[in-house]
Amino acid sequence: MTASGTAGFSTELNGYFEMRRLGAFVTKSLAHFATEGNPSPRAAGAGPAMLNSVGLAGPGIQAWRAEHAPLLARLGIPTFVSIWGRTVADYEKAVGQLSGLGDFAIGIEVNISCPNIEDRGKMFAHSPQVVAEVMDATAGADLPRTVKLSPNTHLILEVADVARAKGAAGAVLVNTAMGLGIDSGLLIPTLGAKGGGVSGPALHPIALRAVYECHAAFPNFPLVGVGGVSTAREAIAMLAAGASAVQVGTASFVEPRAASRILAELPASMERLGFSRVSDLVGLAHRGGIAGTNR
Ligand SMILES: Cc1cc2nc3c(=O)[nH]c(=O)nc-3n(C[C@H](O)[C@H](O)[C@H](O)COP(=O)(O)O)c2cc1C
Repeated sequence: MTASGTAGFSTELNGYFEMRRLGAFVTKSLAHFATEGNPSPRAAGAGPAMLNSVGLAGPGIQAWRAEHAPLLARLGIPTFVSIWGRTVADYEKAVGQLSGLGDFAIGIEVNISCPNIEDRGKMFAHSPQVVAEVMDATAGADLPRTVKLSPNTHLILEVADVARAKGAAGAVLVNTAMGLGIDSGLLIPTLGAKGGGVSGPALHPIALRAVYECHAAFPNFPLVGVGGVSTAREAIAMLAAGASAVQVGTASFVEPRAASRILAELPASMERLGFSRVSDLVGLAHRGGIAGTNR
């Protein structure tokens, strides 16, 4: 899958590869209102990572339905629509505007890694109670819902548990880690919004730990691993940690074909390890890894 916010709103990457062949395309997060996002600069390098403070800029769901959804439907691209809000009621409105999308839409990814203005700007994903409210508010959705969790909390298992108990089809782990860069010449923050989200290779071990712990706690709850995946080997590591699907984000900025290249590389990388089915790899790190298999 592509990761939300790194592959546009619809068919932006389709000139690079056939998006229809992905497990799924995930839209940039959309709200029931339009937003401009944060002041520039919105992206900066940060050693082995990327920092961004795009700030959930977007046209709003209704404009997206008019301009983008028909392109995805025409090409039959399996799509998760990512949604966000500033209040619990915003999420309810968002799912209300997404009913009856058609067969190309296979799910709604509920991005709760954003500030809740009704809770002094604390992230939704940092409060199990608020996550329960968001799940209740979106229960009327006519598509399965996954929740996109934040790594910036010690409550990640509690949050995943609440989402699971409230009917989430799975959890997407993880969104960006909070960070900040200082320009070495100007000695001011590198991003216009000062702080931002860390993604790319530096996030990979953080994402692996979140996936590993969540799978250990809830082995039957489907997980999608995201964070610093740019090779088939890293995708396989996510599967072994317990993910049943993998998303590719920052790697697509370096190389727009990254998601399709990783997908193409996967069978040979799996074969080198002696596997032909992805499902056999899921959670393998919890079962003794390669040494634990009877082959
Ligand atoms: C520029 C940029 C924009 C992003 N926008 C969103 C977004 O709108 N919604 C969301 O849930 N995650 C967003 N993310 C987070 C990614 O989906 C992903 O969780 C994160 O970047 C980690 O994966 P990666 O290391 O492969 O990039 C964004 C990431 C980047 C770099």
